[in-house]
Amino acid sequence: MRYITIALTKGRLAKKTLELFDRFGITAEGSMDSGTRRLIFENEELGIRFFMAKGPDVPTYVAYGAADIGIVGRDTILEENRKLYEVLDLGYGKCRMCICGPESARPLLEGGAQIRVATKYPRIAKDYFLNKKHQTVEIIKLNGSIELAPIVGLAEVICDIVETGATLHENGLTVLEEVCPLSARVVVNQVSMKLENERISAIIRGLKEALEA
Ligand code: PRP
Repeated sequence: MRYITIALTKGRLAKKTLELFDRFGITAEGSMDSGTRRLIFENEELGIRFFMAKGPDVPTYVAYGAADIGIVGRDTILEENRKLYEVLDLGYGKCRMCICGPESARPLLEGGAQIRVATKYPRIAKDYFLNKKHQTVEIIKLNGSIELAPIVGLAEVICDIVETGATLHENGLTVLEEVCPLSARVVVNQVSMKLENERISAIIRGLKEALEA
């Protein structure tokens, strides 16, 4: 039997997702061990294997068919913009993509000023300002701790994920506009969806039922 390969986003999302799979009887030995450094976990009997990847790489693995299924945040799906089927909202990992900055930056978003926007998500930021707001901005790509940018004067605002709002609050920043809601999603390779329809549909059904239970 051909393995169905499932790419998980390393970290909290993987842990939650493995627990969900476990609830409808899909487990792989060692995958729930805390502190393990192994990247691949197989269940030979079920013909299923999981592997752990960095979030932005999950859509890549799925698009190329190296994984049939991927579990990844909607932020990453939008940013990577790969050809995939998005089939299920898992409802966890909930947060929001927002434009944030000091309160004093608010008029800059209303007046259509030429501003700089720092972000880990240049595609999402560009799409929002260009297509939704029709505002010309300069996008500056950063790799983390985005909240620093307006504080030290790299950019007027940021486009970033807000979960609890604690990071913003502790750094004297605030949400100025909401771009879109986010959560963990299930994506499927387009060829796998045809060739392995029965097994993949059963997995999606299992996930849905486990979520509802
Ligand atoms: C994310 C995000 C915010 C923070 C939001 O960063 O970029 O900085 O979490 O969460 P909060 O609203 O609950 O404070 P992450 O911790 O993933 O690290 P990063 O700064 O390296 O991107």
